[in-house]
Amino acid sequence: PISAGIAPPLLAWYDRHARTLPWRVSPEDREHGVVADPYRVWLSEIMLQQTTVQAVKSYFDVFVRRWPTVNDLAAADTGDVMKAWAGLGYYSRARNLKKCADQVATEFGGVFPQTEEGLRALPGIGPYTAAAIAAIAFDVPAAVVDGNIERVFTRLFEIDTPLPSAKPEITTLVGSATPDERPGDFAQALMDLGATICTPKRPACALCPLDEGCAARVSGRQEAFPVKAPK
Ligand code: ADE
Repeated sequence: PISAGIAPPLLAWYDRHARTLPWRVSPEDREHGVVADPYRVWLSEIMLQQTTVQAVKSYFDVFVRRWPTVNDLAAADTGDVMKAWAGLGYYSRARNLKKCADQVATEFGGVFPQTEEGLRALPGIGPYTAAAIAAIAFDVPAAVVDGNIERVFTRLFEIDTPLPSAKPEITTLVGSATPDERPGDFAQALMDLGATICTPKRPACALCPLDEGCAARVSGRQEAFPVKAPK
């Protein structure tokens, strides 16, 4: 499939331009054999569900300093966790966060399940979050599709189907594009590309590693995608 050519230039771009974020393993640490911590990946993905990267950063740091492992979070007082969450909003996320930590601690001895299916069975983890954790923490080549990635793919392939109907089509394309090596970096590279280059308005196509293969760039119709269903 055409999508198979996406990963190499995208990963090369990510190696140069990845955002430095507290839940990511830095290139230097990676060189010293440091691998992703599933607890940190899970915690960041729950916090990022309805909140921006910028707002999440400081909360993430506070949480991992106070509760460095999922077992620490499970042992924490629920009221303390809710207080630490205050300001992030959508408090059901915090209640599910605590429930999930409790379940991972008591049922799995503090070890997160490594499959999308196993992860999806936990409180607060839906299809997107399960795919993201499986890819980023466990190198599972799962199709990770968030809003940024939808925008990138509807532009690359000029997908005319409105969202959310286009979602299955997009998921199939992302699945074909996802490499067996570095699937987590691939997903995060798409997130960064969507956040910094393939922006909703005035995308910076001149800086994009995928510009040559992008149908919307070729036709000059970038801002026509994604097509949204009328409300
Ligand atoms: N949004 C959701 N997950 C993310 C991640 N791992 N990196 C950057 N933005 C994100």
